[in-house]
Amino acid sequence: MPITIKSAREIELMTEAGRILEIVHGELQKALRPGMSTKEIDRLGEEVIRSYGCTPSFLGYRGYPASICVSLNEEVVHGIPNDKRIVKEGDIVSLDAGVIYKGYHSDAARTHAVGEVSEEARNLIRVARESFFEGIKYAKEGNHLSDISGAIGRYVEKNGCGVVRDLCGHGIGGSLHEAPEIPNYVMSRKGVKLRAGMTLAIEPMINAGGWEVDWLEDEWTVVTRDGSLSAHYENTVLITAGEPILLTLTGEM
Ligand code: MF3
Ligand code: CO
Repeated sequence: MPITIKSAREIELMTEAGRILEIVHGELQKALRPGMSTKEIDRLGEEVIRSYGCTPSFLGYRGYPASICVSLNEEVVHGIPNDKRIVKEGDIVSLDAGVIYKGYHSDAARTHAVGEVSEEARNLIRVARESFFEGIKYAKEGNHLSDISGAIGRYVEKNGCGVVRDLCGHGIGGSLHEAPEIPNYVMSRKGVKLRAGMTLAIEPMINAGGWEVDWLEDEWTVVTRDGSLSAHYENTVLITAGEPILLTLTGEM
């Protein structure tokens, strides 16, 4: 599949999809507390998404059974919400969500600390977020994909964390996953040249220990092989000739 360049109208729709997703994440962060089940988080997320006239883009995607991916501690991504899985003080919780607005997708993830967490956990969450911002320094027309990937990977490793290699960011638009794939590690290839109008979901997934991961029996949940903590941070980004526009982040988070 070729990389799509979005029209002004498509960018308008994706901007709205992004704005709504930012609200969804805000509501989830506000509600997150010890004692809550991961299913409750999913229910609330779906409710907020639908209240804005959007559809949860993950629900039913390749058979995924929920609207919000909720991944605790050593879970990297794609945790499946469950009534019996209870969030507790000291956990870190990665929330990944996507919405479809009039046929256009946005995709964003945040990792939150629940109450007091270890210093290692706090540091990991910070490095995941900062690595995204290192990457998007290069998210500009004329640069190559590898400039983003390399900046993320180098930053994460410099900070003593492992970069997940089995999962990547991706183009996004009329589909959740479009070309190109966006690795979070240093690449030997330059990768495609960035052009204004490309929309990319850039999403470092990083581990406190090694980069290796495994898939659980449920066929979705990805966990760190060494059991170390993992964090995820993602935004949908519009490439321009100047600064990139963060479609899912206009505020602080
Ligand atoms: N942000 C994730 C991704 O880009 C969300 C997909 S989860 C799925 O892969 F459930 F929809 F598969
Ligand atoms: Co994504």
